[in-house]
Amino acid sequence: MSTASLNTPTFTLDGVEIGFVAGQTVLQAATRAGRYIPHLCWHEEFPAHGSCRLCGVKVGGHMVCACTLQAAADLEVESNTDELNGQRKKLLQMLFIEGNHFCPSCEKSGNCLLQATAYAMGMEAPHFEEFYPDRPVDASHPDILLDFNRCILCALCVRASRDVDNKSVFAIGGRGISSRLLVNSESGTLADTDMTLQDRAATICPVGVILPKRRGFAIPIGQRRFDLQPVSEPGPGERP
Ligand code: SF4
Ligand code: FES
Repeated sequence: MSTASLNTPTFTLDGVEIGFVAGQTVLQAATRAGRYIPHLCWHEEFPAHGSCRLCGVKVGGHMVCACTLQAAADLEVESNTDELNGQRKKLLQMLFIEGNHFCPSCEKSGNCLLQATAYAMGMEAPHFEEFYPDRPVDASHPDILLDFNRCILCALCVRASRDVDNKSVFAIGGRGISSRLLVNSESGTLADTDMTLQDRAATICPVGVILPKRRGFAIPIGQRRFDLQPVSEPGPGERP
């Protein structure tokens, strides 16, 4: 089935024609057409970051990130294949063991992009040995809790705080396996910043790191976004 209309340039995604406008990436055009390509660090409000690699697709036999690949007429893009989904599952398993992700006790369960993507990729167990890193939470701020145990280093909070809130409350420090989310304040704690609940950075985290206090279960478990529909179905604002 084609999602393109006459005179719109198209590429194919797993054999389906996708229309696009100049300047869109493959991930943007696919999402606008209601087609799912797994992703974690991409968000439609921000330029692509290209760090999580979940959106890896094949074009002409080569791996490329769909979030940074410019859509072009007649591209033939493969995404939903056993090979690519198997690689995505491994990336997810590595993310799960690198942090401390205990979904049953996490108040973001059901609204968490990592959890929902793991379900979509058929991940049933972490497979690798857990790291169990020691990452204390920061409960210093009166309205916002930071649980660093769940950070997947997507840098969305860094981008939101810097580019939307003009505050640069967050940064990513270290390299490779030592990379960590940092709070930009003298004490290193959130209470020592000017972050507020109204900041875009307060609601952008796709997992359960940046949490407004006293609201955790306002929407009961079982009635949350990914409880009601899988991540592979278009969410609000993503419908064609
Ligand atoms: Fe991404 Fe959340 Fe970690 Fe920020 S705190 S880098 S938004 S996972
Ligand atoms: Fe493309 Fe993360 S969504 S690399």
